[in-house]
Amino acid sequence: MAGEMSIIGSVILALFLAGYLGQQYLPPPKPRVIGLDLGTTFCSVGVFQPGTGEIEVIEDDKGRNSIPSVVSFTPTGVFSGHEGQELSDTNPQNTIYDAKRFIGKIFDEDTLEKESARYPFKVIFNNRSAEFLVSTNSTFTVTPEFIGSRLLLKMKKMAEKQLGVPIDKAVISVPAEFDERQRNYTIRAANLAGLDILRVINEPTAAAMAYGLHKAEVFNVLVVDLGGGTLDVSLLNKQGGMFLTRAMAGNNKLGGQDFTQRLLQYTVERVRQQYGVPPTLKEDIHLLRQAVEAVKLNLTQEPHVHLRVPLYLQTTGANGAQEEKVLFQEKLTRELFEELNADLFQKILAPIETVLIEGHLEKEEVDEIVLVGGSTRIPRIRQLISQYFGKEPNTSVDPDLAVVTGVAIQAGIMGGSWPLQVSAIEIPNRHLRKTNFS
Ligand SMILES: *[C@@H]1O[C@H](CO)[C@@H](O)[C@H](O)[C@H]1NC(C)=O
Ligand SMILES: *[C@@H]1O[C@H](CO)[C@@H](O)[C@H](O)[C@H]1NC(C)=O
Ligand SMILES: *[C@@H]1O[C@H](CO)[C@@H](O)[C@H](O)[C@H]1NC(C)=O
Ligand SMILES: *[C@@H]1O[C@H](CO)[C@@H](O)[C@H](O)[C@H]1NC(C)=O
Ligand SMILES: *[C@@H]1O[C@H](CO)[C@@H](O)[C@H](O)[C@H]1NC(C)=O
Repeated sequence: MAGEMSIIGSVILALFLAGYLGQQYLPPPKPRVIGLDLGTTFCSVGVFQPGTGEIEVIEDDKGRNSIPSVVSFTPTGVFSGHEGQELSDTNPQNTIYDAKRFIGKIFDEDTLEKESARYPFKVIFNNRSAEFLVSTNSTFTVTPEFIGSRLLLKMKKMAEKQLGVPIDKAVISVPAEFDERQRNYTIRAANLAGLDILRVINEPTAAAMAYGLHKAEVFNVLVVDLGGGTLDVSLLNKQGGMFLTRAMAGNNKLGGQDFTQRLLQYTVERVRQQYGVPPTLKEDIHLLRQAVEAVKLNLTQEPHVHLRVPLYLQTTGANGAQEEKVLFQEKLTRELFEELNADLFQKILAPIETVLIEGHLEKEEVDEIVLVGGSTRIPRIRQLISQYFGKEPNTSVDPDLAVVTGVAIQAGIMGGSWPLQVSAIEIPNRHLRKTNFS
């Protein structure tokens, strides 16, 4: 270990000198290494700009800084990101999403069958792995890593277009709970996209780096990642610039979708109260869900929002069953949203308590709390967490971009960009298991 440390020390020194000399005698180079966040529902790519020392999250030609993790197969081609997503309604059987939940994972046949039932596409069992069945002009199977490669290729191209240079090197993030096999298959996905992976870092470590915590005087960092469908809590311990994951816990059935669902159930009930019938048409439910999702987002900023949705209700009039067009209107308040979800919000604290117990830490010993994932924008959730710890969490970085920001910083470090920062070397922890509440 001491030998390894001194080698790492020399390497850091050598890199530092190289970076320093480079800075003295050369113009700032273009970034050559990209940082990739291959998420379950969204993906982003970022770079460290050597000139300014800033992180740039790459945007597509419409100014969007992430792409949906969706790949759709049609007789005319393979469509990834937004183009793939747009086909999800018309081509549901051949539009694959959530592939990250399957990548590199070993399954037994029963578990996979249950998983498959949740999706409009077919997940099949092949030699203890998951594959997706696609039927366009012909019928074939694709692997989760192939789906990953299409998304990574799209992001590689976005970065190349933006930077004007070819890119073939990247750093990529993975969930802390990913085992070696899942990491290997993620690397394979990148290789299929023509990318050489210089380092794989854990998502919570990346989020901590987005706040510069690899350079700050902190020891214990708690990362809460609450996305659309899952909650992940990690306790990181930093020792001399190295991050070690001390404990992990989570709930893989808790997230933004559940909060939207509660609000949807409430509005459906309000429609029934006002008109005597609930909305039954698939399109109406779809419209209502979209409107409620927008309301949920708005309620993080506004104390109340007016919902207005045109619906076709199947009522019974004098002439029997008829379709009645109505404009459903309802004022929805943040207070109501919090009440409807109070029990779900409370569930966020359980895995936080678990990682503290497993990490043998008092909550007062947590130096920084980092919030990741869109659902951590919900004011009540921030409040619950800050009340629990008696201090404010770190929220200045967009919670949807915290991971890609950190990965891009790591990419800058790997690319030898100046100013060379203290690297966050990660000590892999092979024996850690994630505690799941759900
Ligand atoms: C699939 O079939 C359509 C119509 O028959 C044809 O135009 C298209 O080229 C075919 N696609 C592939 C990939 O073979
Ligand atoms: C099945 O998977 C194992 C390892 O996971 C591999 O060694 C073997 O070659 C695979 N068999 C087939 C038929 O692909
Ligand atoms: C992962 O890849 C490394 C390097 O290619 C290899 O040595 C290791 O056996 C692989 N591990 C698993 C579990 O596939
Ligand atoms: C939500 O906010 C946006 C922007 O502030 C606004 O355009 C939109 O109408 C709002 N939606 C609702 C349902 O109030
Ligand atoms: C967030 O992180 C920074 C370190 O970059 C720290 O200085 C700051 O005090 C932290 N806390 C809050 C509540 O922003």
